[in-house]
Amino acid sequence: MSKPILHMAGITKVFSTEEMETHALRGVDLSIYSGEFVSICGPSGCGKSTLLSILGLLDLPTSGSYQIEGTEVAQLSLREAATIRNEKVGFIFQSFNLIDELSVYDNIALPLRYRRNPIAKSEADKKVKHCLEKVGMGHRASHKPNQLSGGQQQRIAIARALVGNPSLLLVDEPTGNLDSHNGDAVMEMLRQLNNEGTTLCMVTHDPRYADMASRQLHLLDGKISTPQPIKEPHEMAL
Ligand SMILES: Nc1ncnc2c1ncn2[C@@H]1O[C@H](COP(=O)(O)OP(=O)(O)OP(=O)(O)O)[C@@H](O)[C@H]1O
Ligand SMILES: [Mg+2]
Repeated sequence: MSKPILHMAGITKVFSTEEMETHALRGVDLSIYSGEFVSICGPSGCGKSTLLSILGLLDLPTSGSYQIEGTEVAQLSLREAATIRNEKVGFIFQSFNLIDELSVYDNIALPLRYRRNPIAKSEADKKVKHCLEKVGMGHRASHKPNQLSGGQQQRIAIARALVGNPSLLLVDEPTGNLDSHNGDAVMEMLRQLNNEGTTLCMVTHDPRYADMASRQLHLLDGKISTPQPIKEPHEMAL
């Protein structure tokens, strides 16, 4: 396989409060390659969301090395991390995290407005519309998120994650707030994106969805417990 998009070695994360220290990650080694679909399972509290936050530069590790496309990012300031995050990473969360005061269109356009080199309005417009069409929501551009169903809101969140052409899409329990019909539809959409070349790393409790990945990781007490053999890209069971 080619070079990894990202490479972690010995990543730890300790949350300290006045009363206690929580060792959320205890030495994670992980490489993700272009085009992979990696799933992460594990019991509640084992560190899955913490790992995803560090992978996506929403948070910084306590120690260890982390490289994105060859650039060391573990020691960056939060501001520098935010710049890289905005250009390289898309997020999809269980709770959609859309802004109810903004229209669907403006929610999707938001990541483009925070770029180091903002793109022209007409180009941004093209990208937003393209992503809206991609998730089958072109007819809902002027709605507010709270006027949509859960499944529709998650599709908008997917469009928002895609609009900046991220190198990596990080997904935390994307179906947790959806019924099985909408959950399956969202997973089908994610699988399609992976088939088209988007690299995915997804946390899920659902073994059916974990099995759609080309590689399944299990996290236990802040460590990866059983890295499994890599399937051929896109050779995924449903
Ligand atoms: N901001 C924080 N401050 C203090 N402790 C935290 C913080 N975030 C997470 N933790 C702790 O770190 C550990 C790992 O949390 P994390 O959210 O990564 O678990 P998880 O595997 O995503 O769990 P779940 O499946 O319930 O979502 C937990 O013990 C949690 O209480
Ligand atoms: Mg979590």
